Amino acid sequence: MEPTLSQFAETRRKDGLKVKRHEEVMSNAFSESNPEAVAENSLMTGYLMNYFKDHFSLRPLALFDVVKDFTYGDSLAGNLRLRTSLAQLFNGYFKPFKPVSADELMAGGGLLPIIGQLGRALVDPGNAILIARPYYHGFDMALGALDNIKVQGAHVPLHEAFTTKELDHLELALREAGTKIQAVFLVNPQNPYGRCYPKEVLEAYCRFCEQHDLHLVSDEIYALSTFCSRDVPTPQPFISILSLDLDSLGVKESRVHMLYGMSKDFDANGFRAGVLHTRNRTLYQSLLATSIFSNVSSPTAELWNSLLSDERGLKAYIEANRAALMEAYEHITEWLRFHDIPYIPSSAGHFLMVNFRPLLSQDSMGHVLGYENDAGMAARETALLSYLSRPPCRVVLAPGSGMHMFEPGWFRLTFSISRGVMDIALGKIERALGWSKLQM
Ligand SMILES: Cc1ncc(COP(=O)(O)O)c(C=O)c1O
Repeated sequence: MEPTLSQFAETRRKDGLKVKRHEEVMSNAFSESNPEAVAENSLMTGYLMNYFKDHFSLRPLALFDVVKDFTYGDSLAGNLRLRTSLAQLFNGYFKPFKPVSADELMAGGGLLPIIGQLGRALVDPGNAILIARPYYHGFDMALGALDNIKVQGAHVPLHEAFTTKELDHLELALREAGTKIQAVFLVNPQNPYGRCYPKEVLEAYCRFCEQHDLHLVSDEIYALSTFCSRDVPTPQPFISILSLDLDSLGVKESRVHMLYGMSKDFDANGFRAGVLHTRNRTLYQSLLATSIFSNVSSPTAELWNSLLSDERGLKAYIEANRAALMEAYEHITEWLRFHDIPYIPSSAGHFLMVNFRPLLSQDSMGHVLGYENDAGMAARETALLSYLSRPPCRVVLAPGSGMHMFEPGWFRLTFSISRGVMDIALGKIERALGWSKLQM
């Protein structure tokens, strides 16, 4: 007889299968890093490899030495050197209304593990967080997998996104949710749109949470990946939730929490490091009790710290990253325009939303992709995804439906990929769809 598992394990088996299927698709794609579907930035890998060769070393435990990179370290909240240099980063680049100190920061092994721990501390199992749609699909997994926390998406029409009207849609969703909402999530710069929120909208989010007695979690993992382009020459600059004067808004600082990480701005998804900023001491203390489940490893902490604590090196890196993102964005949008594929311009992050609906509305595509003329747009979206991800094309795009996009037929396209790999991927799509090739 097979040994039985706990109810917890049984109810998560299906989610495990979903992850497995995702892994199969990804490992079948043409490049090991499978850059099209995941928001990874590989533009700066060479730059960082060289930087860390010269600036990173682990310190062994010496007699009377407090630096212990080979030990458990000095704090379960993340080593103090890392938290001190993160506080410097926030004080230097996020324009906080009140200076950030290391003891308000808790680091962990990636942002999703921190989100899992934080979700559990803010929301009871079966209850929900509220977020504007479309939203980053990782929240469904990070919040649902551990504690069955629901993610309630509020549909926001595109023309009202990033305006204070967004809050009217959240209000409606709050009323109609049918589940108790305990927190609101905000991603700024937003994923998948790749845009920053204006100050008045951030303030409206804070007031909304105060009015309804909710926590506000602002995920700012793309904060420094903003860039200009021909599409958006003067984008909305990034404004951190930390920069708001909460007192004057009548908002308690104990309900506002900020998240940041190494994965995106620092081109290092695989190193696994993230951080929570909170001035809620009870929450902080409570999270310490479970921090052991998401510790950031000493080598990663020290590696990140080496760049964060080098003021000039950090500035040079951030500028180089922005320039690389801008160049990669110009390249992909030139390709999209050449093929007449509409898209929503972005000015932050690693991606943009691309509209394949006009293409998928052509019934002639059914012969290529294998759908019937009466197939709906959702089925056509799935057909395109599966056609492109199978041999011989093997290019993975992230379907908008996974991000709860307001209508099917959209895909999120990651452009922060080295030119050589990107051109191979674009050429494969051109061949698979029988398009003429853009000579670049
Ligand atoms: C908005 C947002 N938050 C969190 C994460 C996950 O961060 P990490 O790699 O640190 O777990 C991602 C990754 O795509 C993201 O886009």
